[in-house]
Amino acid sequence: MTSEHSGRVVVVTGAAGGIGGRYVASLTAAGALVVAADVAPLAERGTELAEKATAAGPGRAVFVTADITSDDDWAATVDTARREFGRIDALVNNAAIYQGLGGKRHLTALANDEWDRVLTVNVRGTWQAIKAVTPLMRESGGGRIVNISSTVARMGAPGFAHYVASKAAVDGLTRAAARELGPDAITVNAVAPGLVSDEASRTLNTDDYIAMAARGRALGREMAPDDLVGAVLWLAGPSSGFVTGQTVVVDGGGVFT
Ligand SMILES: NC(=O)c1ccc[n+]([C@@H]2O[C@H](COP(=O)([O-])OP(=O)(O)OC[C@H]3O[C@@H](n4cnc5c(N)ncnc54)[C@H](O)[C@@H]3O)[C@@H](O)[C@H]2O)c1
Repeated sequence: MTSEHSGRVVVVTGAAGGIGGRYVASLTAAGALVVAADVAPLAERGTELAEKATAAGPGRAVFVTADITSDDDWAATVDTARREFGRIDALVNNAAIYQGLGGKRHLTALANDEWDRVLTVNVRGTWQAIKAVTPLMRESGGGRIVNISSTVARMGAPGFAHYVASKAAVDGLTRAAARELGPDAITVNAVAPGLVSDEASRTLNTDDYIAMAARGRALGREMAPDDLVGAVLWLAGPSSGFVTGQTVVVDGGGVFT
């Protein structure tokens, strides 16, 4: 069976994480050719995941070690995409410091270097990714960029002000990039997930907090990584071609602004 993703080349960052891994598996299952990128300490996990996705087919995934804040790593990632698959049709800008926050703390307890690290990875790294893939997307006449934001940017959830600020910046970057890359037929959108019941969220939140978030949703249940797949694949695929500069909230009806 063919899908609109068959044969399309998609770069996914943070690919060895809980949610990134679902994007890789879903895109490969839809026939895409995926460059799955994550940091060196997760290379074994990322390689296994890419091999498993390739074995399941019909698409193919290759893992690359890349820190999204390194222009050199980006050059190598883009080279891999060009060498293996010839082009880049879409980028899923999923990597971020989230589980790596380690815990929640009042904003007065955050150190300047922690603030800088989160903003550098989550915002500068997202921009570096966009910069890196743009030339190859231009060469093939356009592309799709999907940034991953968060509903915390709207809610101002307490306990990680640097992370909240970083995701609000991702929303702004999405709009600026949509305007600047529109003339190149590159669309830029964001998906803002609500609280996902994954390993990362469980390290940062109590079970009670996760249950409370579920009760606050119109759909009244916990959210799984799979709940994000439809929106991300749509924005990464051909059929979303006239949608750009938007942040699509996927949270079961928790926030409506
Ligand atoms: N889990 C949630 O509830 C939730 C909610 C809203 C938004 N999000 C966002 O969804 C995305 C995935 O979340 P997750 O739960 O899988 O988080 P996670 O922390 O488990 O995964 C993040 C991934 O990004 C990678 N990463 C971190 N720094 C990197 C760097 N410098 N270079 C390359 N890769 C790097 C990590 O290695 C990891 O694989 C993130 O952007 C997160 O902010 C998550």
